[in-house]
Amino acid sequence: MKILLIGSGGREHALAWGLAQSPKLSKLYIAPGNAGTAQLGQNIPIGAENLSELAQFARREQIDLTIVGPEAPIVAGIRDPFERENLKIIAPTQKASFLEGSKVQAKAFLHKHGIPTARHASFTDFGQAAAFAQTMQTPLVIKADGLAAGKGVAIAQTHPEAEQILRDFIISKKFGAASGRVVIEDFLVGREFSLFVASDGVSWRLLGAAQDYKRLLDGDCGPNTGGIGSISPVPWLTKEMLDETVRKIVAPTFEALRAENIGYEGILYFGLIWTENGPYVIEYNVRFGDPETQVLVPRFDFDLLELYRAIAERRLERFETKLKPLSTVCVVLASGGYPEQYERGCVIEGLEALTPPCGHPSPVLTDGRGAGGEGHLLVFHAGTALKDGTVVTAGGRVLNIIGFGSSVSEARERAYAAIAQIRFQGMHYRRDIGS
Ligand code: AMP
Ligand code: GLY
Repeated sequence: MKILLIGSGGREHALAWGLAQSPKLSKLYIAPGNAGTAQLGQNIPIGAENLSELAQFARREQIDLTIVGPEAPIVAGIRDPFERENLKIIAPTQKASFLEGSKVQAKAFLHKHGIPTARHASFTDFGQAAAFAQTMQTPLVIKADGLAAGKGVAIAQTHPEAEQILRDFIISKKFGAASGRVVIEDFLVGREFSLFVASDGVSWRLLGAAQDYKRLLDGDCGPNTGGIGSISPVPWLTKEMLDETVRKIVAPTFEALRAENIGYEGILYFGLIWTENGPYVIEYNVRFGDPETQVLVPRFDFDLLELYRAIAERRLERFETKLKPLSTVCVVLASGGYPEQYERGCVIEGLEALTPPCGHPSPVLTDGRGAGGEGHLLVFHAGTALKDGTVVTAGGRVLNIIGFGSSVSEARERAYAAIAQIRFQGMHYRRDIGS
């Protein structure tokens, strides 16, 4: 099969790697991809936002199936130009994308269907929002309605701080139109985890859980990032807790989608928090997570390409989604300055020592073990590019180092041992992922 994968981050390198394991794959294109995906397929210089150009490419190259990594093209309605050309694409419809594209609508959906989530109210008027915030206990949470590259959520510790955030969001339009409307909600206390589910519009299948580390610095300090590390499985999440989450949140979500006449085709990401009252939804995303995908895909005990085919052909009900009994730990190596301004074009040193000369990342054996240390490690590229044959930094999150083991601590040790060999100017990372 000829596959077109859209996106350019670590999530897409992980998906490309998963697809490349499939005997059914004949050709893989990645648009636009990064220096890592170029080792697994052919990068195409079309940005993920150029929807009709992507569809034209798929038609011209007779792509059998297109897979979409990031949310922006989904929320922008990428299905439409593909369906007009009769091309198969795995992505939720624009109608379904409100689950991520509008926090106001997503909260209304949760509330309407009685799915556990923080109490909330929505506003477009600064005065009303500020008056409401005064009535709430602190800390309280303020969210921009639309997409804000993972930065549209602020936690106010005091009422004056809440007022300032609301002023920035609603009046100064810190995130443009995306923050003209806001959600104000209760601050939930608990432990966060991410759950991934595949759906073909009729049936759904649990893929697995992971824990994302969002804060920049050790000990969960510093600003929020897009995700600076991840682990899978989630060590504290028991089978009973997972079952309760499925019963209270996952199944009701798909029932609610059906009741609203929304067929959901693709991956649904449940951003969850386990509170003293059980699981609550923090957010939905209409795609795989980054960097959660990097720890999940290597644990998939099924063919990723076959999963996507089963979604496209509405065969998910008969598709088994098992995970390998492995622990995986992903540490993100970030550019100096990330998540704010950062430099690009810095040479990355030490990658060759971790990557076999064929250019293919180390193979993962079925149990994650192998001779000579191979099979314990994967290196996924995120913000990288090739410049005159050299791998250089090209984004805030640069590399993802994934260690494997029979326990989180073993996986963690392997990831950090590998990191000791990599260097680029300004490189920084958390030292406590998985500890
Ligand atoms: P979101 O983009 O909605 O996932 O929010 C980003 C992060 O903000 C989450 O991962 C949480 O750490 C935090 N957060 C969002 N909503 C809440 C809430 N209601 N209570 C506590 N923390 C929250
Ligand atoms: N890791 C969080 C996200 O993908 O949105």
